[in-house]
Amino acid sequence: MKTPSQSVSIVSGDTANLFIDRYAKAFGRRHSFVLKATGLNSAEVSSEGSYVKGAGGKVWLDYGSYGLHLLGHRNSKIVKAARDMLNNMGLSTKILPNNASVDCAEKLIRAVGSCADKVIYTNSGSEAIECAIRLASLNSKYLSFGALEYAYHGRTLGAAALTDSIYRAPVAEKSIDVLRLPRNDPQKTYDLITNAKLAAVFVELTQGEGGIYSLSHSMVNAISKACQETGALIVVDEIQTGLGRVGRNFAFNDYDILPDIVVIGKTLGGGLLPVSATAFNSKKLGEKVSDMGLHSSSFAGGSLAMAVAGEVVEIIDDTNFRDTVIKIGQTVIQSISSISADFDFVINVRGRGCMIGVEFDSPQTCGAVILELAKQGVLVSFCLVSPSVMRIYPSISFTQNELRKFEKAFAHALHSRL
Ligand SMILES: Cc1ncc(COP(=O)(O)O)c(C=O)c1O
Repeated sequence: MKTPSQSVSIVSGDTANLFIDRYAKAFGRRHSFVLKATGLNSAEVSSEGSYVKGAGGKVWLDYGSYGLHLLGHRNSKIVKAARDMLNNMGLSTKILPNNASVDCAEKLIRAVGSCADKVIYTNSGSEAIECAIRLASLNSKYLSFGALEYAYHGRTLGAAALTDSIYRAPVAEKSIDVLRLPRNDPQKTYDLITNAKLAAVFVELTQGEGGIYSLSHSMVNAISKACQETGALIVVDEIQTGLGRVGRNFAFNDYDILPDIVVIGKTLGGGLLPVSATAFNSKKLGEKVSDMGLHSSSFAGGSLAMAVAGEVVEIIDDTNFRDTVIKIGQTVIQSISSISADFDFVINVRGRGCMIGVEFDSPQTCGAVILELAKQGVLVSFCLVSPSVMRIYPSISFTQNELRKFEKAFAHALHSRL
């Protein structure tokens, strides 16, 4: 899998269509139709580094994966940590404490820094957001929350209510009260927060689904000041940005802000397992939040997941790793910018670390370029809340060879739109 060779198909078109028919029966026709139309109709069967192989033998360069694979597919250190643990344990009893979860919590608290002294484990990003909602509501008389326009916080009830898109509808709109804040108007945001009664304000410092959009320092300062004055907690959603994706331990490290709650997911699973966590300041949040049973799950904090997560934090909490992420990001941004300079339907190329966005003149153009890239063997996705923006998420296993493959496919996809 190290070189993206285009091996001969061992699965016929008929076999691929049969697979997609089974897929449609199990999950619904709508998505399966898109898979068929785009040629993404073979099951993925193996992966390594930056590449994924389908049942038909086709190899894709994976610059998508919704931000799960910063460490590359089946990173050898992560696989080893999982194998070592699997030789001894899988899920833990939840009655006895397990060493891997304590080890991982200590590493996470160190990586987050002075704003956190406790951790609660969960399984998905959305679940960790629910945990943050619960922590904040215990700390406050109010069940109202601030969230930014273009925000994405997940699809469970509370998380979807904080999210600013069609994913709220219909039931999430009726769950918790959400005050929608502009993402680029510090004074208005300050006024809205200080005139409201909020338990917390949820912030993605670089919005992922919102279009790889980094908040300005004046916006973040306005939120921070308003929260300090009103007592509303600051929750930073680092599910997409955290653990090295932006070239820092966390995106908040680049701002003058001290969050009360830090929500972590995606990369924490090492591309192998679902793991998420909520790190928080128990001194600020008070006694009530230290009840271990407050937010729990049968699966959360199991030995296997914690061995993986602990290894992830060990890998990313290293300046060399984070500098490499920044260099890879700069190289890819430079390359995309120079290829797209002659195409006026490309509006903007931007990013932080290995979190890169290409903004097109419309969702249609963005969709067409993504489909053409898929045909050329490159997987990327669009931003769910800002569908004119394509996101490109390289991993630490980046090579110059894969960059050449990407450049060729990207140039071809842009030309096909002329
Ligand atoms: C910023 C942010 N918050 C929350 C979530 C939800 O995480 P999950 O899909 O693991 O539930 C996501 C997922 O894309 C995200 O990007």
